[in-house]
Amino acid sequence: MHLAAPLTLACGLVLPNRLGKAAMTEQLALDGEPNERLRRLTARFADGGAGLLITGNVMVHRDHREHPRNVVVDERTSRPALALWARAAGDTPLVAQISHPGRQGLYAPRGSVAPSAVAMRGVGPFFQTPRALSVDEIADVVRRFAYTAKALDEAGFAGVQVHGAHGYLVSQFLSPLSNRRDDAYGGDLAHRARFLLEVLGAVRAAVRPGFAVMLKLNSADFQRGGFDDDDALAVIAMLEGRGVDLLEISGGSYESPAMLGLRASTLARETYFLEFAQRARGATKIPLMLTGGFRTPAVMEQAVASGAVDVVGLARPLAMEPDLPRRVLAGDAKPAIEGRDRVGVPLLDKILSAQTYVEQMHRLVDGRAPDPNLSRAWTIAHALWMTRG
Ligand SMILES: Cc1cc2nc3c(=O)[nH]c(=O)nc-3n(C[C@H](O)[C@H](O)[C@H](O)COP(=O)(O)O)c2cc1C
Repeated sequence: MHLAAPLTLACGLVLPNRLGKAAMTEQLALDGEPNERLRRLTARFADGGAGLLITGNVMVHRDHREHPRNVVVDERTSRPALALWARAAGDTPLVAQISHPGRQGLYAPRGSVAPSAVAMRGVGPFFQTPRALSVDEIADVVRRFAYTAKALDEAGFAGVQVHGAHGYLVSQFLSPLSNRRDDAYGGDLAHRARFLLEVLGAVRAAVRPGFAVMLKLNSADFQRGGFDDDDALAVIAMLEGRGVDLLEISGGSYESPAMLGLRASTLARETYFLEFAQRARGATKIPLMLTGGFRTPAVMEQAVASGAVDVVGLARPLAMEPDLPRRVLAGDAKPAIEGRDRVGVPLLDKILSAQTYVEQMHRLVDGRAPDPNLSRAWTIAHALWMTRG
């Protein structure tokens, strides 16, 4: 079985199999600190048998968080707490996803920032209108990515994944809809990709050679006039020789949530971005992880066996069934368990359908089984409560 074959990355890190847990924001940290509840969740996922665990997004800036309860890794973060978190996965490679939310942050006490002062559309009152970053501030964010990566390396993590997808800051720079700059960081694609390439360069330079540096990138933003698949292929070509060990492919943003299958075009087939992955395969030698929609073991096996991708990324199925990798690797053909996650109101679904899986992860922390019939009223109430910090 191809899913059971190990994969050695360029940095030397060996993934014991081809099923990877994709990032899911855990919303468990208080004041940015990794804690015992987060360690319990990490250990639970490690027990499930995946060959790679990618944490939920870890913030590089304390004042800019995707969610108030994200982990923050800066000069204030407890190093012993970080080291304990790194060890919680045991022998399973644990990679921290590192991110800056830009305008897509629920927590920005001093105001949100972005490439340009362009507000998000269609997501109601959840996000502030950002102000544009100065060139000095961009350099500061690049330094913070490097600082965070180095701290995670020293703490014992196997690697980091730069979050370049889903409408967060890196992805805001890449998209002409959110990046209207006319300096070295805006304009044509080469300039819009400059921030990403500076972040990758600074991160690689800050960590040890055996430490994995990964990237999550959108195949497209799924918005008219936005970052499209040709742009994505051009960016992938720019990654050559920059020390990226694994490239994860996804798509969409809060404005257009293709990554969750909330668009007809992505829901049409089980794997949302497989065709793009096949094109990306022709454009790079970097190992590819594909995330979004995988539910059937045969489809997972086929994706790897066909040579289209190297690693199958799984997010929601693992919140519902953390032992799914173990069962798939043992040859069980039953599909993943689906959660009941849609209300049918587009704006609410954009926010809540993912939030139901946060609730499932919190059940796992407390030693409870995921609940396919989780109350939506509870999800809404708890989600609102947690945004208080
Ligand atoms: C609760 C939840 C939290 C998520 N948090 C993150 C995150 O922190 N970073 C990220 O890149 N993607 C995040 N995602 C997106 C997933 O990594 C993945 O791309 C998406 O869920 C599609 O994969 P799936 O069909 O296997 O769930 C999240 C998804 C869910 C459901």
